[in-house]
Amino acid sequence: MRRKLAAGNWKMNGTSASLDELTALMATHPDPQVDILICPPATLVTSAVVTAADHALQIGGQDCHRNESGAHTGDISAAMLRDAGASYVLTGHSERRTDHNESDEEIRNKTKAAHAAGLIAVVCIGETLKEREAANTLDIIAGQLAGSLPDVLTAENTVIAYEPVWAIGTGKVPTTNQIGEVHDYIRSRLEQRYGAGVGTSIRILYGGSVKASNAAEIFAVSNVDGALVGGASLKASDFSPIVTALQNA
Ligand code: 13P
Repeated sequence: MRRKLAAGNWKMNGTSASLDELTALMATHPDPQVDILICPPATLVTSAVVTAADHALQIGGQDCHRNESGAHTGDISAAMLRDAGASYVLTGHSERRTDHNESDEEIRNKTKAAHAAGLIAVVCIGETLKEREAANTLDIIAGQLAGSLPDVLTAENTVIAYEPVWAIGTGKVPTTNQIGEVHDYIRSRLEQRYGAGVGTSIRILYGGSVKASNAAEIFAVSNVDGALVGGASLKASDFSPIVTALQNA
């Protein structure tokens, strides 16, 4: 049985006042039956960890450097995130792939760094609209999985997030058939590469315009083990119904 995961990615949003949203979220879900993760901006990781100290809610980073330390101005290592109390980190988010030209190899190295530091890596993959329209989606997914994932991993230290780039922040959501096709495909690739035990146990999240109004439908799709939510994770009042929908799925 894969434990379900409701993850929020705040992206470049939030100041210390936003910690009130964490407090409200925890108050609404005092004893969650699913894992809950919030990835605030790096400036809030430490205070978010303190805010969530007495709750099951986990805190993660949004990116990490491939190296443990060194002359990399502005970057943050996985070991630093771990030291700050984070337990997860996103790697390969499409906004990092685009804004910072991150390659699959770079993402693989970041994922390895996350594992070495004891973090759970949420490795993000997904096709662009152009790729989908060219009917290349599954090839793109296969390539990103092959390139972004290390050869050695466990179901405990790795989560996959399928986020079609064209669905992020657009209000456009793939059909449940489209989501199911990709999630089933990811599952089969994972089983092929890592064996049935590990490949069957890795959690696969869907991300891209998930909201309270579409969450239940998405969570009913096979091999969807939760969601990675952007905009609708910023306010507890928006994210909480998504957590509830996942618990009820
Ligand atoms: P939205 O939920 O705002 O579409 O963002 C999805 C996302 O990119 C989460 O990482």
